[in-house]
Amino acid sequence: MAQSLQSFHTFSLPSQCQHFYQIDDVNQLITTDFSVPFCILGEGSNTVFLSDYQGSVIHMTTKGVAIQEQSDAFLFHVAAGENWHQLVAMTIANGMPGLENLALIPGTVGAAPVQNIGAYGVELEKFVSYVEYFDIATKTIKRLAKDECQFSYRDSIFKHALKNKAVITHVGLLLPKKWQPVLSYGPLQKLTQPSPQQVFEQIIATRNSKLPNPSELANAGSFFKNPVISNEQLALLLQQYPNLPHYFVDSEHHKVAAGWLIEQAGLKGYKIAGVEVHQQQALVLVNHGNSNGDDLIKMVKHIQQQVWQKYQIALQHEVRLINAECECHIELGASS
Ligand code: FAD
Ligand code: EPU
Repeated sequence: MAQSLQSFHTFSLPSQCQHFYQIDDVNQLITTDFSVPFCILGEGSNTVFLSDYQGSVIHMTTKGVAIQEQSDAFLFHVAAGENWHQLVAMTIANGMPGLENLALIPGTVGAAPVQNIGAYGVELEKFVSYVEYFDIATKTIKRLAKDECQFSYRDSIFKHALKNKAVITHVGLLLPKKWQPVLSYGPLQKLTQPSPQQVFEQIIATRNSKLPNPSELANAGSFFKNPVISNEQLALLLQQYPNLPHYFVDSEHHKVAAGWLIEQAGLKGYKIAGVEVHQQQALVLVNHGNSNGDDLIKMVKHIQQQVWQKYQIALQHEVRLINAECECHIELGASS
C-alpha cells in the first residue's frame, strides 16, 4: 500500500512509495523482498525523496545497546535503528566519554558508518571497531572490521562496493577509558581543561546557533561536501580570496569551506519556491514548504553553476537524492 514519505525525511518534500517495510527485528530482513528496487532508510536526515518513489522503503528501527567493559575500553554493540544523539548522551551521562564532539548529529546509528559522520574535528571511524550487516545476496550476517570499511571524509564502502548489497544491522564502537578531548575547532578552543559534559554542551550550543533544527525548519544538514582541491588551485584562489577558509588534507590537497564559497557568491537567502539557502549557514538548504523536487534540483544546479563560474570548483552534493527509480546525482552539465 502506498505510504507518504514526507515525515520520513527531514527535507520533507511531498512524496510517497509503493511499499514500506518497518524493520524492528533483524529476522524480518530474511523474508523482505529485495528483488524490486529498494531504499534503506534510517531517520531520513541525509536522504531526500525528489518525487514519488516506485520502489520499497526499508525503514530500520531495530533497538538495543549492549555494553561490554574491557580493561582499557568500553565496547558498545548498538542496533542500527537506535538514535545516534541519544546514544551519545547516554555514554556521556554514564561516564564513558569520547563521542561528545559528535553530539546532536541527527539520524540513526546504522546510517552513521555509511557517510562516516563527522563534526568538530572528529569522525566516526575513530571509534568504530566493526560494522555488522545483513548480506542481501546470502541472507547472512557478516562483520567488517574497521579497516575493511574504507572510511574517508563522508565516505565508506557502503557507498561503493556494498551499496544496495548490505543492510547495516549493528555497529561496534570502542570508547577508550583514557579520555583525550579534541578541542581544535573554533568555539572549543576557549575551553580550559573541560569535562566531557562541558564539551558535549558546547557542541550542542554551537550547533544550535547555526544549524536549523529539522523539526522546526525542514533541511538535510550540509547539502554539499566541502570540496578537496589541489594545493596549486588553492594558491591561485588565495591570491584572489585571501580569507577563503581551508584545511589540510594531505601534502597535495586542501579542503575548502563550501559554505564560504556559496555565501561569497552572493547566494545566502537565495530562494526558489520554498527552497532557500539558509541565512545562518549557506551550506544548508532549507524547505519552507510549497516546494517540490524540481525546485530543489533547480537550486542545486544554480549553486553548482555559480560556484563553478566564480571559483572553478565543482560542488558535489552530500545529501543522497532519490528520484522515482533510484539514487541520482546532480552534477555540473549533467545529471545521472
Ligand atoms: P538516512 O538519511 O535515513 O540514510 C542515509 C544513507 O544511509 C542512505 O543512503 C541510506 O540508504 C543509508 N542507510 C541508512 N541506514 C542504513 C542501514 N541500516 N544500512 C545500510 N544503509 C543505511 N552529518 C555529519 O556527518 N555531520 C554533521 O555534523 C551533520 N549534521 C547534520 C545536521 C542536520 C541539521 C541534519 C539534518 C543532518 C546532518 N548530518 C550530519 C547528516 C545526517 O545527520 C547523517 O548523515 C546521518 O548519519 C543520517 O542518518 P539517518 O538515519 O537520518 O540516515
Ligand atoms: N562559512 C561561511 N559562510 C557560511 C557558512 C560557513 O563563511 O554561510 C565559513 C565559516 O565561517 C567557517 C567555515 O566556512 O570559517 C566552515 O564553516 P562551519 O564551521 O560552519 O562548518 P562547515 O564546513 O560548513 C562542516 C560539516 C558539518 C559539520 C561542521 C562542523 C561538511 C559538508 N559539513 O560544515 O556537517 O557539522 O563542519 O564540523 O563537511 C553535515 O554533514 O550535514 C554537517 C552539518
